[in-house]
Amino acid sequence: DDFGLMTYDPGYVNTASTRSSITYIDGGKGILRYRGYPIEQLAEESTFVEVAYLLLHGELPTETQLNEWEYETKQHTVVHENIKRQMEAFRYDAHPMGMLTSTVAALSTFYPEAKNVKDPANRMLQIRRLIAKVPTIAAFTYRHSLGHPYTYPNNELSYTANFLSMMFKMSDNFYEPHPALVRALDVLFILHADHEQNCSTSTMRAIGSSHADPYSALAGSAAALYGPLHGGANEAVLRMLTQIGDVKNVPDFISRVKNGEGRLMGFGHRVYKNYDPRARIIKQVADEVFDLVGRNPLLDIALELERIALEDDYFVSRRLYPNVDFYSGLIYQAMGLPVTMFPVMFAIPRTAGWLAQWNEMLEDPDQRIARPRQIYTGSDEREYVHLAHRR
Ligand code: CMC
Repeated sequence: DDFGLMTYDPGYVNTASTRSSITYIDGGKGILRYRGYPIEQLAEESTFVEVAYLLLHGELPTETQLNEWEYETKQHTVVHENIKRQMEAFRYDAHPMGMLTSTVAALSTFYPEAKNVKDPANRMLQIRRLIAKVPTIAAFTYRHSLGHPYTYPNNELSYTANFLSMMFKMSDNFYEPHPALVRALDVLFILHADHEQNCSTSTMRAIGSSHADPYSALAGSAAALYGPLHGGANEAVLRMLTQIGDVKNVPDFISRVKNGEGRLMGFGHRVYKNYDPRARIIKQVADEVFDLVGRNPLLDIALELERIALEDDYFVSRRLYPNVDFYSGLIYQAMGLPVTMFPVMFAIPRTAGWLAQWNEMLEDPDQRIARPRQIYTGSDEREYVHLAHRR
């Protein structure tokens, strides 16, 4: 056997599953760059739509390229009425992330030509479709939870303004999202757009490596993102803060975490061992949004948790710092979103990253089907025992 030659690396802590030129992370120094551009500059200067182009094409677009990209993507914001009908069949209390995951999977049945993953032009068409339709489906999941009628996309608005409109506009009433809210959402989307080989992106590559269509692969990524250790963390943070309930309960909660009775959600990261650069930017966005819509009362609990944890030896010695999810949930809650929508808010921008990575994988001549090996720990060969003789 060849077991002796294998590396045992559960969770791929030290195994590069691919090569990639999209996102660079230096966990020790707290650096994150998309295609070489520092996340801080992109958050300050760019928009999500431009960042999606950058992730996919490798370069920032010229003005003409950006306009074309925006225009062509907007042609696909509407979903088939049967997709909408399918969504109507979900239970009234269905989790939005479950609705998103299965609806994205259902899209594959509407676009059978997407199976032709070898054709770059066809891939780009499916990519545009998904980037355009995921926000529409996401907003539908929210309206479904409320029992409110769906608001159709408005292609005269920007990507993020249109999303807010589909979420919050009621029938023919006038609705114009505050520009500061649109901008805050753009920054949040930029920060979440890609993060190299995290669990959901590795899932996209693994499913895509069998040449499954991108809708099926992306549904798998969304399912991976749903988990509380990944994209479900922002939801878990809010539940944790609500459960703590008051600043005076924070020390007791920290003691329980140190006794192994649960984790401090929104803390720790596999790669960032110094700080998460996204968390720093998100804290500023939080202040801007709170100025506009009012301060989230749970913020005081979060600040106190952060203050104590950053001084406590348990967290310091394990190099556990606030990650991107520690504050994003507080912002989404202040915007009026229920906690169940938080992972969906992560999935919308990450769609761009998943697709950029999927496209890159299919262009890489070295890429083979994802097929890890294992170290077998079971029984040696033994004789079959008939049912009558089993004890
Ligand atoms: N609270 C308390 N202890 C923790 C935490 C935490 N949040 N995270 C890690 N630890 C401890 C862990 O118990 C272990 O201690 P010991 O060495 O004594 O056994 C040590 O730190 C190393 O932890 P690990 O589980 O080996 O670390 P990992 O790299 O496998 O896990 C993580 C990374 C993000 C899953 C983990 O830190 C965690 O569960 N954090 C809370 C969930 C969370 O916030 N997730 C969002 C991640 S960022 C956005 C995203 O990717 O979706």
